[in-house]
Amino acid sequence: TRQPTKEDKFSFGLWTVGWTGIDPFGSASRPALDPWEYSDKLAELGAWGITFHDNDVFPFGSSDEDKTRIVTRLKDAADQAGLVIEMVTTNTFTHPVFKDGGLTSNDRGVRRYGLRKVLQAVDLAAEMGASTFVMWGGREGAEYDSSKDLHAAMARYKEGLDTVAGYIKSQGYDLRIGLEPKPNEPRGDIFLPTLGHAMALIADLEHGDIVGLNPEVGHEQMANLNYTHGLAQALFSGKLFHIDLNGQSGLKYDQDLVFGHGNLLSAFFTVDLLENGFAASPDAPRYTGPKHFDYKPSRTEYMDGVWESAKANMATYLMLADKARAFRQDSRVQEAMTYSGIFELAEPTLAAGETAADLLKGTDEFDVDKAAQRDYGFVKLHQLAIEHLIG
Ligand code: GCO
Ligand code: MN
Ligand code: MN
Ligand code: MN
Repeated sequence: TRQPTKEDKFSFGLWTVGWTGIDPFGSASRPALDPWEYSDKLAELGAWGITFHDNDVFPFGSSDEDKTRIVTRLKDAADQAGLVIEMVTTNTFTHPVFKDGGLTSNDRGVRRYGLRKVLQAVDLAAEMGASTFVMWGGREGAEYDSSKDLHAAMARYKEGLDTVAGYIKSQGYDLRIGLEPKPNEPRGDIFLPTLGHAMALIADLEHGDIVGLNPEVGHEQMANLNYTHGLAQALFSGKLFHIDLNGQSGLKYDQDLVFGHGNLLSAFFTVDLLENGFAASPDAPRYTGPKHFDYKPSRTEYMDGVWESAKANMATYLMLADKARAFRQDSRVQEAMTYSGIFELAEPTLAAGETAADLLKGTDEFDVDKAAQRDYGFVKLHQLAIEHLIG
């Protein structure tokens, strides 16, 4: 495979390579480095950008002086390494004050504190030149249905999001919010569990025009959903603002594996959509943002393994991109797509100017029995994808 370059627009969260392996059952399995040590190494491996939570850079509760000192040092290191800080987010999940959420805690004092922390991170994001502000409400949720007025929880979520989006606008920041759904973990049930739930709340916002989605592979797959379909619907609605690529093997805890190290065939079609767009809709929206990896180097790996795993994300993406390009360019694939009716789906069902009443008047002399016998050839088409992937 070719080496990744800045043109590939690969970015990594500092918390990904920075995860020391702490999980509910065990302590750290490797040391923590300084933030700039991670960014320098990521730049060396071919990354274009980095992202972080406020507290990936400075510890929770740092003084303003300490914050400025550490953030300046990281920004200088990123500038020197030619790295873009493309996304910044807030940690409203680690400290126990957020155990019942940041924006939707039953405790109003916590909500006011949480919202203030989010707004401060928005200022930081603008200062770093980021274009996306992700909001992953990991602690917004519940274990017990008895524990919340769920209507009030949605109202507080909406209030929080509108306050943040309204603040971005009032400050004139060139920032958009990316909501990141997840069905569960760390809460038993997280609010906005899927992309569809998030899109519905966005539609109700006053400032929803600058609020979109940051879909993560593993989170959709934890809900047994199709990630590529999720990206497609987000694109359809103009809401695909950012992406979190990683890997997940089915319905279990959030694995945050390397991209492609879970459902590889699904990863192939994700890359196919990102790189080649919709097959029959050339004018449809395309994703042009960062290819952002939100994964965790497995706890079994030490530092060599951390860097190997970071490289693996980019290498896998590039290999899949080559294969997806070859798949689309293969004349047998184009023929199979035509046979399958892929291009026919892009034709409007009604003729220009035709109404429902017009449709009711006619029959098209449609032969139901013949149409029922149509062979769609989807299996043959899919096998061609397999041939490109592993043949
Ligand atoms: C997860 C999430 C988080 C968020 C990140 C951004 O694995 O549950 O992906 O990693 O993406 O914290 O806020
Ligand atoms: Mn995850
Ligand atoms: Mn994520
Ligand atoms: Mn994660």
